[in-house]
Amino acid sequence: MALYQLIYSSIPTRILSDHELEELLNTSRDANSKHGITGMLICFKSLYVQLIEGEDTEIKQLYNKLLVDNRHYRVQTLKEGKIDKRQFPDWTMGFERKEVSPEEQKESLDVFADKSLSLLSLLR
Ligand SMILES: Cc1cc2nc3c(=O)[nH]c(=O)nc-3n(C[C@H](O)[C@H](O)[C@H](O)COP(=O)(O)O)c2cc1C
Repeated sequence: MALYQLIYSSIPTRILSDHELEELLNTSRDANSKHGITGMLICFKSLYVQLIEGEDTEIKQLYNKLLVDNRHYRVQTLKEGKIDKRQFPDWTMGFERKEVSPEEQKESLDVFADKSLSLLSLLR
C-alpha cells in the first residue's frame, strides 16, 4: 500500500456555525475511518488548512471531492507526496478552531506547545 499525504489551504465561502462545523466533522470522521484516512483540519478566521493522509487512491478521491465542495473555494495544494508513515495515525480528523489569523498565530509564542501547529511546521 502506497501512503500519500496532501496539505491544502482554502478559503471558507462563509463562516460555518458551530452546528454546521460539528456536522462536517462528524461525517468527515465517519468517511475517513471507512477509507483509512487520517489527518488534521485547522480552521482559522478566514482560512482552512487541512492535512489528509492515507492510501494514494483514497487521498486523490477525497481531494477531488474537496475541490468541488462549495463550502470553500480557492483550494490550493501546499504540499503533497508519498510518505513512509503517518503524521496523525490516531486522528480520523483532528480539529482546531483558531479565532486568529494564521499570521497572528505564527507570532504567538504558545504555538510550539500546540500539537496542531506541527501541521503548519511541515510547510516550512
Ligand atoms: C474544509 C473541509 C474539510 C473537509 N474534510 C473532509 C474529510 O476529511 N473527509 C471527508 O470525507 N470529507 C471532507 N469534507 C467534505 C467533502 O468536501 C465532501 O463534501 C464529502 O467528501 C462528500 O462525500 P460524498 O460524496 O460521499 O457524499 C470536507 C469539506 C470541507 C469544506
